[in-house]
Amino acid sequence: MLARLLRAAIPAQRVATTAAPRSPWWRTAVVYQVYLRSFADADGNGIGDLQGLRSRLPYLAWLGVDALWINPHYPSGGADGGYDVIDYRAVDPEYGDVADLEQLVADARRVGLRVILDVVPNHTSDQHPWFQEALADPSSAAASRYHFAPPSEEPPNNWRSLFGGPAWSRTPDGRWYLHLFTPEQPDLNWRDPAVAEDFERTLRFWLDRGVSGFRVDVAYGLFKDADLRDNPGTYSPTLFGHGPEQAMTWNQPEVHDVWRRWRAICDEYDEAMLVGEVSLADVGQVALYSRPDELHQSLAFRLLKSPWSAEDYAEAVVEALDAFGEVGAPVSWVLSNHDKERKVTRFGGGDVGTARARAAVLLMLALPGSAYVYAGDELGLPQAAVPDEAKRDPIFFRSGGLRAGRDGCRVPMPWNETRGVGFSTDPDARPWLPIPEDWGRYAVSRQARDGGSMLTLYRRALAQRRAHPSFAEGEASVSRQGDVLTVRSVGPSGTVRCVVNMGSQPVVVRCPGSVLLSSTTRLPRSGDGLALPPDTAVWLSED
Ligand code: GLC
Repeated sequence: MLARLLRAAIPAQRVATTAAPRSPWWRTAVVYQVYLRSFADADGNGIGDLQGLRSRLPYLAWLGVDALWINPHYPSGGADGGYDVIDYRAVDPEYGDVADLEQLVADARRVGLRVILDVVPNHTSDQHPWFQEALADPSSAAASRYHFAPPSEEPPNNWRSLFGGPAWSRTPDGRWYLHLFTPEQPDLNWRDPAVAEDFERTLRFWLDRGVSGFRVDVAYGLFKDADLRDNPGTYSPTLFGHGPEQAMTWNQPEVHDVWRRWRAICDEYDEAMLVGEVSLADVGQVALYSRPDELHQSLAFRLLKSPWSAEDYAEAVVEALDAFGEVGAPVSWVLSNHDKERKVTRFGGGDVGTARARAAVLLMLALPGSAYVYAGDELGLPQAAVPDEAKRDPIFFRSGGLRAGRDGCRVPMPWNETRGVGFSTDPDARPWLPIPEDWGRYAVSRQARDGGSMLTLYRRALAQRRAHPSFAEGEASVSRQGDVLTVRSVGPSGTVRCVVNMGSQPVVVRCPGSVLLSSTTRLPRSGDGLALPPDTAVWLSED
């Protein structure tokens, strides 16, 4: 309703939202997503690892984030970037061991950072001992923990894998098994209580080691239609936007009870939290996963999917605030992650893409709630061109090369301008994905010295967000006037405003107070206001 009002806005429309309470920590946290494999390599084998990450904790504290979410660190079959887990209560030797993770958590605490792990409950690896047992013996207890169907000509239903092709593959003895992602990721049968029990053990295992919670992979999955009926609509190959056409596969009501149990477990620990990947098309449905006794947060992907347009952004912001406000949960804003093209590139690339990425992050960090920053975005990394022969992403292979895949947003971080850009302790190490020739120009060392760099902007924005809690905690109202989007928040530090010009002409912005931060270094005065250039955002204090 509110969103519709906003669409019809002539010339401006205001929408009030609910203020988020000040505590606990996760309600307003800025969480930095570490793609572990690409962050920092301490043992010189070209693969990022836990000790590498540990050595870079001072950087993350300096940057000013509150917590880290680490992409899967488990022993894995390697079919989907670690999202095919063989052992949920261990660390892949490529990354270190459990003691390394404990050290990381302890060191992170010392510099004021919490650590969140990724947990993958929808599917295991096909190399997981349960699946191996199920393959060997169709009548084993393990077989009922997956979705198997007897041999037949046709697969049991019309479901498709999100990565392309059918969602059913055959075992060597002719049975069918379900995998909504790759064939190496068989889906678990959550109607078997042994599955739930084992995951609860996993949660406790890591919580006992001091982690502050979990990002829950595919949290809108787990349960499937009890009769595995055909999906009603034409399958859309678009990744992450699941609507009613896939009603039998996702978003089954039973899944909410899992989150209630997991929430109760987290409540036994010191402020542990759960953030779910809930990639449903309807944000109202997404918010339901964050009712007070379920997941603390559900990632809000609307901004990530919106084109650069004030109308789309305004609608995305209002709808999310509205939907999450209804259930009393903070919105967890996301502009990029390891599944999506880097935002500089998404916004047009080059100077324009960079300007928009700068403006977009100021908007995100000005919104009430929590925000997720993907490693490398603070450096303004573009999507890297990864040659086909170096690609790893199953999306590329399963689509027969039609879809580029996600490797380009997963290449290693440039730390300095030396050979190998400081990713690995051994400059001769071959990185697991090739690093582009010009990556040094984005290096942390270089940007840290540059007052106009993307890194400096992120750091200043995070500091200002902390200094002005009205942004994250205040009561926000959103308005749009043509191509200009304004978020005005009233809270503990007074009244603050973020104004974004998403159009192609400069606009004059009224400025009764002071400028806190701007995404551009050129912000000329115009009368008693400011001339805000296209693709630019500014933070203002009205006091
Ligand atoms: C989630 C992850 C993605 C992974 C998929 C299957 O969407 O973010 O990277 O491929 O789940 O586990």
